[in-house]
Amino acid sequence: MVWAVLVAAGRGERLGEKRPKAFVRLGELPLLAEPLRRLDECEGIDAVVVVAPPDWQEPAILLAEEVGASKVTACVAGGETRTESVRVGVAEVPDGVDVILVHDAARPLLPPEVVARLLGALEGYDGAVPVVPLIDTVKRVRDGVVDETLVRDELVAVQTPQAFHAAALRAALAAGRDGSDCASLVEANGGRIRTVEGDERLLKVTTKADLERVAAWL
Ligand code: CTP
Ligand code: MG
Repeated sequence: MVWAVLVAAGRGERLGEKRPKAFVRLGELPLLAEPLRRLDECEGIDAVVVVAPPDWQEPAILLAEEVGASKVTACVAGGETRTESVRVGVAEVPDGVDVILVHDAARPLLPPEVVARLLGALEGYDGAVPVVPLIDTVKRVRDGVVDETLVRDELVAVQTPQAFHAAALRAALAAGRDGSDCASLVEANGGRIRTVEGDERLLKVTTKADLERVAAWL
């Protein structure tokens, strides 16, 4: 069994709209409709847990019904950080589920082939993440002065969804650390993470310009 946890509880402060990012309009519907519909259509995903902003659970459930996302099994209120929201979502996943896929609602255009690549890459690893090459040169900077230039060939940008053996993700979350993605928690817990090819369409909506780009790809 494979369950997905869709984290949508962020405030979207950098987007700067009145409503949370998951409920900002993308095309005809709130942004959250897109990842809900796409996760629902993914072969290999059995159920979806939605982590909504506090006080937005009911609109999230109604939206799931509207788009026919019948795999949505639970909808819970998120926490103060992404990691907290993941923790709350994963707590809804029953024992006995083998694989948990965690996805950012802020990356609405989920291509099903990325999910297939992730699920196909898990054997022998604790988790799998989609990556894309970096375009810019990356430097470590301290107090406005370059400390070092990192070897770009070894660097990648990491997207979501991220897939994990449930036990590895649960153990990593229980360790109580915080991180900007789930894989970093599993890594810190000694887990091994495989990479698969990511997808440009998994762009994360952070700013208004990102929202416009994603809207143009709908
Ligand atoms: N997220 C969450 N709970 C939080 C913070 C973030 O579920 N407390 C989710 C967001 O809803 C998003 C994903 O994690 O789908 C990535 O977060 P980010 O892009 O930073 O979204 P926001 O935190 O909403 O945006 P901002 O940082 O600009 O406020
Ligand atoms: Mg954030």
